[in-house]
Amino acid sequence: MNGRFIQRDRNWHPPAYTPQYKTSVLRSPRNALLSLGPTISEMTGPVFGHDILGELDNDLIRNYAKTGSPIGQRIVVYGRVLDENGNGVPGTLLEFWQANAGGRYRHKKETYLAEIDPNFGGCGRTITDENGFYMFRTIKPGAYPWPNGVNDWRPAHIHFSLFGHAFAQRLITQMYFEGDPMIWQCPIVKTIPDPEAIGRLIAKLDRNATIPMDALAYKFDIVLRGRRSTMFENRMEGN
Ligand SMILES: [Fe+2]
Repeated sequence: MNGRFIQRDRNWHPPAYTPQYKTSVLRSPRNALLSLGPTISEMTGPVFGHDILGELDNDLIRNYAKTGSPIGQRIVVYGRVLDENGNGVPGTLLEFWQANAGGRYRHKKETYLAEIDPNFGGCGRTITDENGFYMFRTIKPGAYPWPNGVNDWRPAHIHFSLFGHAFAQRLITQMYFEGDPMIWQCPIVKTIPDPEAIGRLIAKLDRNATIPMDALAYKFDIVLRGRRSTMFENRMEGN
């Protein structure tokens, strides 16, 4: 691919105001947006280092285990962080958080009746290598109900945060699992107008990367911008 500029497609991201996703009513802007250039402190301020990651940070099966392995299906999630021309982006800090196999988050405000797993914390992090590659090991999360409509459920998903080279360069998205019928019933997913944009949030089952007798593998590439961009929920309307 060449390096030509690709115009941002503002229909790729959902509108900020989507009443069927109730929280968006209060969170969406009421006034026209202002464009603010980056400040010097944003561009030069403190960023994460490359030597602060612990050995188990990308292993959610072991990073919180107290008495044994967490309950649930063991999986590997891997892929690349790519720019608009398909080149890998090295040095990107990825953080991820998720519910346990029963759909329960380890959070004091979480009230879903599914049990907490004493051996599962549900968060981790890693940094992309020189080719933009990342991987982590975890338990496949369960679906969970949430107070939006009368009976709304989130499909199984993993939240992702990506940090670039400056602290202000943060992007947030969610990854879903291929073949899950709950994806297409989710009020948050339904705010995304283009089915192809939804498709880019769905990790593909990759039998070639499966670890025999151990873990299934899901492949999830994240594209920062351009025609194949991932939908980022903190960049609504492509802003
Ligand atoms: Fe969630």
